[in-house]
Amino acid sequence: MAAAVAATAAAVLASRFSTLSHSSSYYFSSSIYFAGLRRPLSLSFHRRSGQSFRMGHVTAVTRATLGLTKPAVVEIPQITFAAKEIDFAEWKGDMLAVAVSEKDMSKDSNLKFENSTLKRLDEKLGGLLAEASVEEDFTGKAGQSTVLRLPGLGFKRIGLVGLGQCSPSSTTTAYRSIGEAVATVAKAAQASKAAVVLASSNGISEEFKLNTASAIASGTMLGVYEDNRFKSDSKMTHLKAVDIIGLGSGPELDRKLKYASDVCSGVIFGKELVNAPANVLTPGVLAEEASKVASSYSDVFTATILDAGQCTELKMGSYLGVAAASSNPPHFIHLCYRPPDGDVKRKLAIVGKGLTFDSGGYNIKTGPGCSIELMKFDMGGSAAAFGAAKAIAQIKPPGVEVHFIVAACENMISGTGMRPGDIVTASNGKTIEVNNTDAEGRLTLADALVYACNQGSIALDVHILPGPSTTMMRDVVAVLDNVIVFIVEATVDGDDGGVEGAEGRSRNFLVKQVVDLATLTGACIVALGPSIAGFFSPSDDLAKEIVAASEITGEKFWRMPLEESYWESMKSGVADMVNTGGRQGGAITAALFLKQFVEEKVQWLHIDMAGPVWNDKKRAATGFGVSTLVEWVLTNTS
Ligand code: BES
Ligand code: MN
Ligand code: ZN
Repeated sequence: MAAAVAATAAAVLASRFSTLSHSSSYYFSSSIYFAGLRRPLSLSFHRRSGQSFRMGHVTAVTRATLGLTKPAVVEIPQITFAAKEIDFAEWKGDMLAVAVSEKDMSKDSNLKFENSTLKRLDEKLGGLLAEASVEEDFTGKAGQSTVLRLPGLGFKRIGLVGLGQCSPSSTTTAYRSIGEAVATVAKAAQASKAAVVLASSNGISEEFKLNTASAIASGTMLGVYEDNRFKSDSKMTHLKAVDIIGLGSGPELDRKLKYASDVCSGVIFGKELVNAPANVLTPGVLAEEASKVASSYSDVFTATILDAGQCTELKMGSYLGVAAASSNPPHFIHLCYRPPDGDVKRKLAIVGKGLTFDSGGYNIKTGPGCSIELMKFDMGGSAAAFGAAKAIAQIKPPGVEVHFIVAACENMISGTGMRPGDIVTASNGKTIEVNNTDAEGRLTLADALVYACNQGSIALDVHILPGPSTTMMRDVVAVLDNVIVFIVEATVDGDDGGVEGAEGRSRNFLVKQVVDLATLTGACIVALGPSIAGFFSPSDDLAKEIVAASEITGEKFWRMPLEESYWESMKSGVADMVNTGGRQGGAITAALFLKQFVEEKVQWLHIDMAGPVWNDKKRAATGFGVSTLVEWVLTNTS
């Protein structure tokens, strides 16, 4: 009998890991021991050293040709930021931007500036600055900006940027808007070399100077960027270098500025993914874009892309149900970040909703306000994940392993599509009656979350502990001292094979925290409006971490309740659950649904970013989530 168990074990292992071994940088070798027999059996599972990037499974992407649209290849503007402690009057370049509060604009009885910076500038210009600012009606109000052409200094133009009531202790958000205004005036002046100086920077603490400088840099970089890839005549951006004057200098500030620039490149990448229309950004193209991040930073990233067949092997029926109607096939995307020295103390996963288009399916989105034409943004969660991946690839934080997981697909309508009323089975075995095909995001996230909770084990050798009476086997239940432990199930005398508490310990090798981001419900927009994301978590610790990160980045989050009593509305007469409850508390029931697919021992937090993914006024993506995710990953750094 023992031999039979061993053979089954090998088969189970082989099927469990074969998909991964083909598609990622893992390979089989070494030996399994059948505990008790101590007989080397066959295979085990090693992480490939050297972290080489290999992608067996990106079969040629069926390139979208619909509409014959090809995005122009536009380089992300490379702006060099430098922090300098020099006399601004000595600075040479195209435009000096001066950030001025209303108070700074006050004048004495002789109509001369009281603020020392403005006073000096004005003196050098023979009083022209005071005159011109009056003519331009510039009073320093927030949002006001003007460019004055005033020759006579080392620069041709002065940009005045209004800070409003701003004081030196204003928030990073305020300084980011100054950066944006600097970008506006730099564009107007067609400047390629600009400098920024605060009219009053005295009294700002050293730490605050760091944050202020980096907020100005981020604001400038994001303000300069315009997504013109789909316009037939794209404007050039001129700005190449920005000197930040009077906020300190040195290696610490330079590091901070590099960090700001790395995060911005991730935010821009995220925006571009969301802005790209669904006829261009198909699930295959999204997978390709993610893979490019991994191959560009192959020192720290590996990529695994699973096709529909491999997802079937992993029993992802819930995800595949959503994908079934589309002729653009699904791609399950998994990027893994490992620090350069390979020393990992914490393992995290970031899961993003990746619906490249959401028509609603048979429950098609109709009627005013349903925003079907905007549903290209339904992959905003995945854009946040991959934007963060790109930033982290450049920052290379130590001590942390991060898995980026996206079950990408398209929710369409066709004869092969899922019907309302169908029952699908997720990869954790739970069955779902699909009472609304438009609640598709949670169906894709279900399988992505199950997958995420299983990431992170580095299993070396496998021991199989037989129970006394049966050949049925449970899954891997533990990884102890680099040994995978299987337990043979249903022991007659309650003997668990001697690995009591193993399940608890095994989690140390798997991901500890999972954060998912999704444009999940219109209900969340109703609750919190367009600019605040709702988040849900049973873990106060993880909730605190996300709040702390968001306070640094200025992105807005609000904690929502996981009210268990609302689960009542998610019960099905025929399956384990339905996928939608009533209209009431829609964001909450969606979160409760996701919870069904998360291991209890994993700390999990769900972010509903249906509102903040898109800026209606700018008719463009916001890049929401990227900066907070990066900040959060860094709090988990050794
Ligand atoms: N992608 C939508 C959510 C959404 C709606 C985001 C509007 C941004 C703007 C999601 O897949 C969806 O359709 N949700 C439904 C759920 C409902 C059927 C329970 C919704 O919110 O209406
Ligand atoms: Mn939907
Ligand atoms: Zn959706």
